[in-house]
Amino acid sequence: MTTLYDKYGGFATVSKLVQAFYNKVAESEELAPYFVGVDTQQLIDHQTKFFSDILGGPVKYAGKELKIIHAAMGITEEAFSEVADLLEETLEDMDVEEADIETIMTIVAGAKADIVSPDR
Ligand code: HEM
Repeated sequence: MTTLYDKYGGFATVSKLVQAFYNKVAESEELAPYFVGVDTQQLIDHQTKFFSDILGGPVKYAGKELKIIHAAMGITEEAFSEVADLLEETLEDMDVEEADIETIMTIVAGAKADIVSPDR
């Protein structure tokens, strides 16, 4: 069985996906405050590795655990939903098939407990 990574064109596609996703996040008034002072190039590089990894590609994400990265950010449920919605929109824009979008969004939903702050 071919991986989603190969099916949609490998690294070049993941790269485009992450850039388009990041642009949407950066344009969101609700999300912008979370990203103040963040090194954009580094974030895009890590996100690209992360998505390559979850799509079954050869590039492995060797970053910190999502929980450690996001713990102190005070991320609300609403902010998480907004990010998830923008990711879904980006996948739709890139003509990823509905069933594959579901697969990807299920993986992302599984990370919710690690990303939303416990007191939010
Ligand atoms: C929806 C699921 C999410 C996934 C899969 C995800 C994944 C990631 C990854 C892989 C990184 C790079 C970490 C590294 O440097 O190794 C990162 C960083 C970051 N994430 Fe998320 N994230 C998600 C949701 C969110 C949400 C909802 C917010 C805020 C509203 C957020 C804010 C940030 C910020 C600000 C950074 C940059 C940290 C820094 O470099 O200082 N993330 N995320």
